[in-house]
Amino acid sequence: MKLILLGAPGAGKGTQAEIISETYKIPTISTGNIIRAALKEGTEMGLKAKAYTEKGELVPDEIVIGIIKERLSEPDCNGGFILDGFPRTIPQAEALDNMGIAVDAALSIEVEDSEIVKRMSGRRVCEKCGASYHTEYKKPQKDGICNACGGNLVIRKDDEPETVLNRLSVYHEQTEPLKDYYNKQNKLLIVEGQDDVKDTTALVLKAISEI
Ligand code: AP5
Repeated sequence: MKLILLGAPGAGKGTQAEIISETYKIPTISTGNIIRAALKEGTEMGLKAKAYTEKGELVPDEIVIGIIKERLSEPDCNGGFILDGFPRTIPQAEALDNMGIAVDAALSIEVEDSEIVKRMSGRRVCEKCGASYHTEYKKPQKDGICNACGGNLVIRKDDEPETVLNRLSVYHEQTEPLKDYYNKQNKLLIVEGQDDVKDTTALVLKAISEI
């Protein structure tokens, strides 16, 4: 299965990607995670991306398209993959088409902006392995400590309230038109995000099973 996950920042793409990945045994490719790892390592790409991510702007298309081209050529993608956070603009979607990659579906998780702002303010991420938690909805076993690797849980820099609002407006302007793009290809699936992660997962897995 080749699946794109669409949705506003904080709609729950990463959370659902993890579950789909375990269920279908296919890798998740998150451009956000790849960029954050490059920032942490201080690579040339990370330095170029820093100013954009910190303001909640999109990193230029040519950089993310390069990342995806390279990642999709790795052997673990041969049996399918989940794209979490790519494409985010029409030129990125066109680039994917031009690579000859035909996805099976683009699944959009729909959540109200007001709910997103609430979710993002409670998100905590592990500074070591990047695992994501929530102060209310997904608590770690030990306060402030990652279950998986014991790293410290911190607030993501781009989860500050003002940056979240900018990310939302960038989403509506540049990424939401992709729903129309994939609808025209008959590949759009819509799932209404629920208050409980498990309820969203049930809807997501049902939608995917019908592809
Ligand atoms: P990226 O990391 O992709 O950020 P994003 O799309 O803004 O996605 P998030 O990781 O913030 O949210 P999510 O939808 O995965 O939600 P999550 O599951 O964590 O990108 C970061 C930046 O990198 C971008 O701003 C941009 O600068 C750059 N970038 C990346 N890709 C790019 C591209 N293709 N082109 C250009 N630039 C790019 O959930 C959020 C929180 O809610 C969690 O705490 C979770 O526990 C909680 N939660 C989830 N589901 C539920 C639920 N059902 N009920 C209650 N709480 C829930």
